[in-house]
Amino acid sequence: MSIIHNFSAGPSALARPVRERLAEQFGTDRLDQPSVVELSHRGPEFMALAEELEQGLRRLMGVGDAHAVLLLQGGAHLQFTMLPMNLAHQRTAAFAITGHWGEKAFAESARITETRLVASSADQDYCELPELGHLPADCAYLHYTGNETIHGVQYPQPPVTGVPLAVDLSSEFLSRPYPYAELGLAYAGAQKNLGVAGLTVVLIRRDLLERIPDSLPQFLDYRTWVNSDSMRNTPCTFAWYVALETVRWIESLGGLDAIGQRNQAKADRLYRAIDGSDFYHNRIDPEARSLMNVPFVLADNDLTMTFVEQAEQAGMPGLKGHRAVGGLRASLYNALEQQAVEDLVDFMAEFERTSG
Ligand SMILES: Cc1ncc(COP(=O)(O)O)c(C=O)c1O
Repeated sequence: MSIIHNFSAGPSALARPVRERLAEQFGTDRLDQPSVVELSHRGPEFMALAEELEQGLRRLMGVGDAHAVLLLQGGAHLQFTMLPMNLAHQRTAAFAITGHWGEKAFAESARITETRLVASSADQDYCELPELGHLPADCAYLHYTGNETIHGVQYPQPPVTGVPLAVDLSSEFLSRPYPYAELGLAYAGAQKNLGVAGLTVVLIRRDLLERIPDSLPQFLDYRTWVNSDSMRNTPCTFAWYVALETVRWIESLGGLDAIGQRNQAKADRLYRAIDGSDFYHNRIDPEARSLMNVPFVLADNDLTMTFVEQAEQAGMPGLKGHRAVGGLRASLYNALEQQAVEDLVDFMAEFERTSG
């Protein structure tokens, strides 16, 4: 079977032009010269790549010198740990939880520092966004998950508070215009919208660096990474390279305005199809529906695996829901084309006709 449209939640599809650049870079007709992953990360070629990547990320996010942009490893999981260690020393970390990943970040934070839940939609089965409760007087930041990848719940805009916002943007990074410059800290793995696994982008407002306790192990101290241009040790050079090609591709489309319109159109099309049928159902409050991950269930749950298998045979892998919630999920990250959604919607209509 040849893969036609990849709906995987991550690692996920790369944009076609990025795949083409990879094919050129690693093609057998180029074996007489080193590929990008065979270069010293301190050599002039790779340093130029790193500089272009940082500047490209800054342009896309619209952030200036008030923020540092770090290129780390360890995924969002390491940020669940580094964030409270660095910024919530002798302060309270406040959390708004809207799904699985917020729960995980909260649990890790609670191991490290005083951590308070100020909003949660767990009682509503994570189908909506919660009201914000009272923030503690010594609040270090409010942590929230911009887009809950498993539950399919997204904040249309950041919550409004008087404290720094610390946000997990793993599954919506660079997918639409976002007020990055207003954030205290944001982190995101690259494996959904920015290329391949290995690289984690961290955006941090520089004045917050003053809060970091000197007792931290250096490797876990954000200042180490600020002061070394993210090269305290050997970076994941392949992931940086793919991120640069992805940044170039996003800019060639017209930046976040253009990619945001594309993503909105894809999501609108799929939600319209789901809402227009009694056979498919999405349980999320329309105000909080994710543009990136669309979970849905079938009226007859017993047909779920048949749907997944037939979709795979039709060239649409990756539609099985996360094991924590079951059902189905279509991930519509940047690289997925509108045509993929059109074909999925056609497939869904045909499946309903033959199985419903
Ligand atoms: C919103 C969100 N946060 C955190 C994670 C965990 O990311 P990582 O595997 O990079 O640690 C994921 C992974 O899917 C995610 O979607």
